[in-house]
Amino acid sequence: EKNQWIMGIETSCDETAVAIVKNGTEIAANVVASQIESHKRFGGVVPEIASRHHVEQMTIVLEEALSQAGITMKDVSAISVTEGPGLVGALLVGVNAAKAISFAHDIPLVGVHHIAGHIYANRLVSEMAFPLMSLVVSGGHTELVYMKEHGHFEVIGETRDDAAGEAYDKVARTLSLPYPGGPHIDRLAQSGTPSIKLPRAWLEEGSYDFSFSGLKSAVINTVHNAEQRGESIAPEDLAASFQDSVIDVLVTKTIRAVDEYHVKQVLLAGGVAANKGLRTALEAAFGEKDGIDLVIPPLNLCTDNAAMIAAAGTILFNKGVRSNLALNANPGLDI
Ligand code: KG4
Ligand code: ZN
Repeated sequence: EKNQWIMGIETSCDETAVAIVKNGTEIAANVVASQIESHKRFGGVVPEIASRHHVEQMTIVLEEALSQAGITMKDVSAISVTEGPGLVGALLVGVNAAKAISFAHDIPLVGVHHIAGHIYANRLVSEMAFPLMSLVVSGGHTELVYMKEHGHFEVIGETRDDAAGEAYDKVARTLSLPYPGGPHIDRLAQSGTPSIKLPRAWLEEGSYDFSFSGLKSAVINTVHNAEQRGESIAPEDLAASFQDSVIDVLVTKTIRAVDEYHVKQVLLAGGVAANKGLRTALEAAFGEKDGIDLVIPPLNLCTDNAAMIAAAGTILFNKGVRSNLALNANPGLDI
């Protein structure tokens, strides 16, 4: 039997990543060049700097991935690449690299949606069982996605303003923590008590949408009011209170969606899936629910990587999906 080697390329934000997945689920190479050090001093990702780093890193990361997998380009069955959503200049580097090697080596090309990639990171951990519900929480997205089969995505709820990760990063900035702030808030929260009253945006009854900008503003106001009164607030208590509010809403809405849609499996996806508090709360919620299988990927598959793109690319490729050389970066691509 011939092995299937699918290459994944991801450059939608600030990680230059190339991975090779063997026979659908085996990670043969997963190389990620992070740019965090370059963006840190600006407190966030600077698009122009991101694009330039992708250009500088792409060939190096690609060659490293092939060498880790112990294969050459002629062994690759298909090249899958994130076509969107993301930063247009960043996406363009990955898309053009993928098109160039597809053309030069005559290898089929498959465009992949970044969020589909985050969801399919779970397939590298466990076989998917349909119907399923995925909670996607990243720096750019907060969505509940219902899937009744491979490649079919129904967004039943999404954020109306800030993404969960964005709220984490902005709150961290208010507390003078370095970028990206999510992991710092997570760590602080573990040593604090959720003693500060903060809002929870439940929205209209029955809605699966999210909203985090009110919570973010409440945190900022709490800090400013305390400063004005010359009082000090324990940052760990503020972090714990903020995290409590985010997790309460995320987990409550996920449980309701799981019940209403009668799913067999719950998948956690996206950078915020690395959050210890969220992982623990989901494990507590679904650990005692009969017949519901909860899958949470390891940390390196939660944050941006290309193995997840290759995992989604494998499914699309095997379904017969092909992109041609007209494939373009699409910063606002719908799933
Ligand atoms: O999925 P990702 O790597 O990039 C996007 O597609 O957006 O997600 C990055 C986001 C950042 O906002 C970062 O602060 C957040 O994930 N994040 C966390 C944690 N680790 C990463 N947020 C909360 N707790 C964490 N442990
Ligand atoms: Zn992402």
